[in-house]
Amino acid sequence: MMLAAVRAGAAILKNGGRALDAVIATVSVLENHPLFNAGYGSVLNSAGQVEMDASVMEVNPGAPPRAGGVAALSRIRNPIKLARAVMEHSPHLLLVGAGAERFARSAGISLCRPEMMISPRARERRWIGGAKAKRGYGTVGAVAVDAHGSMAAATSTGGMSGKLPGRVEDSAIIGAGTFAGPLGAASATGHGEAIILAGLCREAVDSLVKLSAPQAARNAIAGISQTAGAEAGIILVDRRGRIGYAHNAAMEVATFDPAHGLCHLRSPATGPARQP
Ligand code: GLY
Repeated sequence: MMLAAVRAGAAILKNGGRALDAVIATVSVLENHPLFNAGYGSVLNSAGQVEMDASVMEVNPGAPPRAGGVAALSRIRNPIKLARAVMEHSPHLLLVGAGAERFARSAGISLCRPEMMISPRARERRWIGGAKAKRGYGTVGAVAVDAHGSMAAATSTGGMSGKLPGRVEDSAIIGAGTFAGPLGAASATGHGEAIILAGLCREAVDSLVKLSAPQAARNAIAGISQTAGAEAGIILVDRRGRIGYAHNAAMEVATFDPAHGLCHLRSPATGPARQP
């Protein structure tokens, strides 16, 4: 499934398409699959509801960066598409809850019944409960640079299992779970509160001024691990398309290599600040 998602984005990039379209396509595939904690398959909060967050950011050469985010959604099949609509068709950066869902209608994105977003697996996990279920994040994200020099990052999540209703995840917050700037683009997973406090993705992208992509990723995870003792993971790409990723919790990574036209599953297991 990871490879299918990356291939959806790669097909766009291979045909000269935009990084923004590629990351939206990749994240949408993952949101549609019940295995991931995003879109359909999102975990349940303490009230037994799905509440999903997502954000997207892009930077085009010679233009100011732009971004959009959404939070506390229960009735949107693909939160990442609504985040894009906020970026492209609203004067705002972040819309939440009922207001975001009302905006979806005006943007031509249909709503579904909240129970349509609850997978059998999510329902089962609610009754398992306990520490293990609470530690699961399963956030999905994608980063890309295209042939025109544009970069984009997109992130989507159902958040933390058993969270309080109304919790906003880092995945909705620009600079925390998602960031794209002139130096690169990044998407994060892990403990949202720590990621927001660290401004993790912005920190990592800004550090590309002096670090390679793999070093920037490793530094970001080592930093959040030391300062907050938090579990997190990050993927990033610099403006030349060099990839970095690191994590101190379970995370899977798949990449597209445009030089050879190939997608690779890198799937590292849990471990301390791993990198390519
Ligand atoms: N990063 C997702 C969360 O904190 O729930």
